[in-house]
Amino acid sequence: MSVIGSRVVRKDAVEKVTGRARFASDLFLPGMLRVKVVRSPHPRARITGIDVSGALEVPGVVVALTAADIPGRNCIPVVYEDLLLLAHDEVRFHGEPVAVVGADTEAAAEEGARRVEVRYEALTPVLDPLEAMEDGSPRIYGDDNLFKRWNIRQGDVDEAMTGADLVVENTYRTPYQEHAYLEPQGMLANPTPEGGMELSGSMQCPFYVREGVAVVLGLPLASVRVVQAATGGGFGGKEDVPSIVAGQAALVAVATGRPARLIYTRDEDILSMSKRHPAVIESKYGFSSEGKLVAADVRYVLDSGAYSTLSPVVAWRGTVHSVGPYRCPNVRVETLAVATNKVPCGAYRGFGSPQVLFAAESQMDEAAHRLGLDPLEIRRRNALADGDTTPTGQRLKAEVGLPEAMDKAALSVEWTRRFEPPEDKTGPRRYGLGFSVVHYGVCLGAGGKSLDRAGALVQLMYDGSAIFAVGTTEMGQGMQTVLSQVVAEELGIPYESVKPVAPDTHMVPDSGPTVASRTTVMSGNAVREAAAPIRLALLETAGSLLDVDPDTVTLADGTATAPDGRTMPYERVLARCFEEKRHLASSGWFQSPPTSWNEDTGEGEAYITYAFAANAVEVEVDLETGVVEVLAIHAAHDVGKAINPMGVEGQIEGGSAQGLGYALMEELLYEDGRMLNNQFSTYLIPTSRDVPPIHALIVEHPAEVGPYGAKGFAEQPLMGIAPAVANAVFNATGVRMRELPITPERMWAGLKEK
Ligand code: MOS
Repeated sequence: MSVIGSRVVRKDAVEKVTGRARFASDLFLPGMLRVKVVRSPHPRARITGIDVSGALEVPGVVVALTAADIPGRNCIPVVYEDLLLLAHDEVRFHGEPVAVVGADTEAAAEEGARRVEVRYEALTPVLDPLEAMEDGSPRIYGDDNLFKRWNIRQGDVDEAMTGADLVVENTYRTPYQEHAYLEPQGMLANPTPEGGMELSGSMQCPFYVREGVAVVLGLPLASVRVVQAATGGGFGGKEDVPSIVAGQAALVAVATGRPARLIYTRDEDILSMSKRHPAVIESKYGFSSEGKLVAADVRYVLDSGAYSTLSPVVAWRGTVHSVGPYRCPNVRVETLAVATNKVPCGAYRGFGSPQVLFAAESQMDEAAHRLGLDPLEIRRRNALADGDTTPTGQRLKAEVGLPEAMDKAALSVEWTRRFEPPEDKTGPRRYGLGFSVVHYGVCLGAGGKSLDRAGALVQLMYDGSAIFAVGTTEMGQGMQTVLSQVVAEELGIPYESVKPVAPDTHMVPDSGPTVASRTTVMSGNAVREAAAPIRLALLETAGSLLDVDPDTVTLADGTATAPDGRTMPYERVLARCFEEKRHLASSGWFQSPPTSWNEDTGEGEAYITYAFAANAVEVEVDLETGVVEVLAIHAAHDVGKAINPMGVEGQIEGGSAQGLGYALMEELLYEDGRMLNNQFSTYLIPTSRDVPPIHALIVEHPAEVGPYGAKGFAEQPLMGIAPAVANAVFNATGVRMRELPITPERMWAGLKEK
């Protein structure tokens, strides 16, 4: 292969570093209104009246709208249909939208929003997910405050636990995590003359935005057109919620007949948009004396916030991954997505897995220490390998790159030479090593129902350049680059000759969401299929020009080559195609192979394939201050095939940095149901100075289902970092940290207690 596997420059690199890329806030239309949202100051209250007349008196304010002004349904459908566009009878979290104001300027819109008078009658909020499940708790969703329950029941856990030589039982807590994408949410809505609506803005999922706006405006899907603008980061935070932003802008646009643009400020973005779910994980593991995991009993509670949004599927993914990448014959998992009067939580890189993986990998580490085993050795004894069966009873058909990833990470950190048990450490600054392993289902799997499919269009021009369009999006993860490589490889043209077209719902079929590490596999296969008939036309034409069998012709870099070495430039091949009126454009479609899930037993072929990773982390802990410094991260990932190795390394580096923030510093605080630190001055994320050297190591065990054997993997770099850090902290100090983030205060308290 000439392009697949090579280190190419990102397609969107130049436009982004030069500032030429057009993000939502760069979009202008004549007559465009600015939109502001009125939000609830209460975690829970009854709305007894809304008066917008004060807003309408502000010069420049054109419209102020409430739920009563919604022409279609007051609903943004996600998995269920409980999410409202604008609250009307009751507000259910601090920051919930109540009204929207459209004005000629930002300042007028802001003043107008301030002048909307909403009368509230405060109600008792439900703030803690464990209390929410108690009998006396107010009911805010259904009759049990439960959005969803998932189970795994494999083997006989009680019997296996009784027979176990060691039982490790602990409770773990994980915090909110904010995506902190550089570009806040933003959307431009433009009403069309025939009564439709066009939207452009920041998003991962144009087809979700289309559906949300169609429901809110009461329009057929064909009357709503969504084109993705340049998008400055998503990480899951622009999966479902851009539909809310779009609905708010579209409501103003439809009411006024004018274009309307809504750009969230950072504080309203953090206040009201989705987060990683905080979680409480009660975990009981049984081991044999040789360190074999014989039983796992896990209760995973997700604090889901006020509306269900993506929680049912986040909880499902977490359930499937809850025991980590290990063989375990006896498994009982109960996952509960619980309603509280706080911000609705949703997708964030890892989608329900980082929380439960922190528990799983801490449990394995503790077992190793108590059995006198090296933490790497206990993982080697239990880790999934070729032909093994996962804790949901899925036999792995593809090669499992986990053992090799473990070897690579261990070698990189020099584990065998440098690992010492915590009892042997001395001095005021303690060095420690921690390990973690990860598996991650690629694409939506059985929880994704019928969404796992993708379309593509490819067109080769007569000068040898090509365009392609897909329904999945570029959000910084490198999709345009990888798919351009696929087009270049299939058509035998240089990478530089391929131009991506912005995703447009009027042009490509519904390709599902850009989530779940699914794009390389789904859109990659669709693009490959779209390119196939064009490739065939090139082969046939070149074959006849070279007077050889088309099957024997090689296409690469704009040249067709016969088996005897004679060459034919594309210029001539394409001229002949033109003369013969060849069709050099085509569409492709890929649908995921079947998956399965039994809701009662939690048994099934949950995902079409899995990516794997191993992380080794080096830390130094200051015993006086409790400051944990991460010195280096060694992360090895089985990606099937690295289509662009530079992109793989970039994903490992970025994901590791987010994992580091999750491990050590990111913490969103609520007090009496009000979010306290929705600013970057108070919600701290790692900066370049906090990020240590990251050794990105690539492992390639091909997956048959992916293009060229590639597997999507870009979520898992975040997932194993926090447990590896916590395990390294234990190795350094002998203190087991069971709550994230490991702030200096918590660490110091842990050290004092010891
Ligand atoms: Mo991603 S967390 O599956 O949007």
